[in-house]
Amino acid sequence: MIGLFDRLSLPLLRALDPEDAHAFAIRALRYVPLPRSAPDDGRLTVRAFGLNFPNPVGIAAGFDKNAQVVEPLLRLGFGFIEVGTVTPRPQAGNPRPCLFRLDSDCGVINRLGFNSEGEAAVLARLAARTGDGIVGVNIGANRDAADRVSDYVHLIEAFAPVARYFTVNVSSPNTPGLRDLQQARALDDLLARVLDARERVGARAGRTPVLLKIAPDLTLSDLDDAVGIARKHRIDGMIVGNTTISRPSALREREKAKEAGGLSGRPLFKLATRMLAETFVRAEGAFPLIGAGGVDSGATAIAKMKAGATLVQLYSGLVFRGIGLVAEIKADLLAALRRGHRDSLASMVGSEAANITAESWPS
Ligand SMILES: Cc1cc2nc3c(=O)[nH]c(=O)nc-3n(C[C@H](O)[C@H](O)[C@H](O)COP(=O)(O)O)c2cc1C
Repeated sequence: MIGLFDRLSLPLLRALDPEDAHAFAIRALRYVPLPRSAPDDGRLTVRAFGLNFPNPVGIAAGFDKNAQVVEPLLRLGFGFIEVGTVTPRPQAGNPRPCLFRLDSDCGVINRLGFNSEGEAAVLARLAARTGDGIVGVNIGANRDAADRVSDYVHLIEAFAPVARYFTVNVSSPNTPGLRDLQQARALDDLLARVLDARERVGARAGRTPVLLKIAPDLTLSDLDDAVGIARKHRIDGMIVGNTTISRPSALREREKAKEAGGLSGRPLFKLATRMLAETFVRAEGAFPLIGAGGVDSGATAIAKMKAGATLVQLYSGLVFRGIGLVAEIKADLLAALRRGHRDSLASMVGSEAANITAESWPS
């Protein structure tokens, strides 16, 4: 049924302008009753940040920014959903066009700029949920915020009762100045205030894990600082990472590659996986990592785990491979466990990280 849905919908979605295709996909998920995927094999279970994930494949932030299709996505077999980025006040984002498909590279460039229906709308949807699948909330500052850190603090307070985890997104390239929050002093202050807010509301709502999502474009010395500060504040995990402002030399769609914005999908895989391994060796097991960037097959998901990911997330892969990708990755993970005579995915995590950091830098 899902294979049929992909065969019918992918050519149609491909023919549409990318923003219309995304709106159409959200509407289809809301209104087309897709079958519930089979229950996950117990060997795919992952425990991280105090949560039990039925499988390690999540949908990355940006697909369901406003929490409109959380239950349909869980029904399709994702192990967890990250909604957002949510901003406190609604904002429109950048003018169209701001989303580009690089078809022959299987990549996407976006400069959406935190289009968000805002806290109230997203909170209402999450508060009305009855399902118990894991939904994390990715938070960001309004473009015109007078004090950006206050926006993050406010969102932690607002969403604590409904978020199973938080992602502090300081890595979107499309809000001018946002990535500066990754610099040592700014990051130290941000995490201190965010975690303080978490402790304050935790007395009421319980202690919600807080993850930090970084850009794959950090220098290694910035990464040293970011991981050091994350460890100092005892952050619960990191997501590595967001889209890249770099443009790999092998890109075929040279004209579209000139569009401003963050690149994701297959052309991001090598850089994001390298940064994941670099983060893993610096974290020294202090917290688990989520690997994102170019996961579009079982092999790429397994490569992320070997580079240091306890969980993986994907977005762009869905654009090119369709929703059947989720089941395909899970089947390939199980096959890899069988081949390696392993009972759980945990033994794979980081097994190649040191080797990857010794390779030449991806161009
Ligand atoms: C259209 C689009 C919108 C995105 N919006 C967000 C966002 O709002 N917040 C965020 O943290 N990441 C956002 N991302 C980044 C993804 O969450 C992910 O980190 C990145 O795309 C790499 O994964 P992928 O190669 O599987 O797409 C967006 C990505 C795309 C393609």
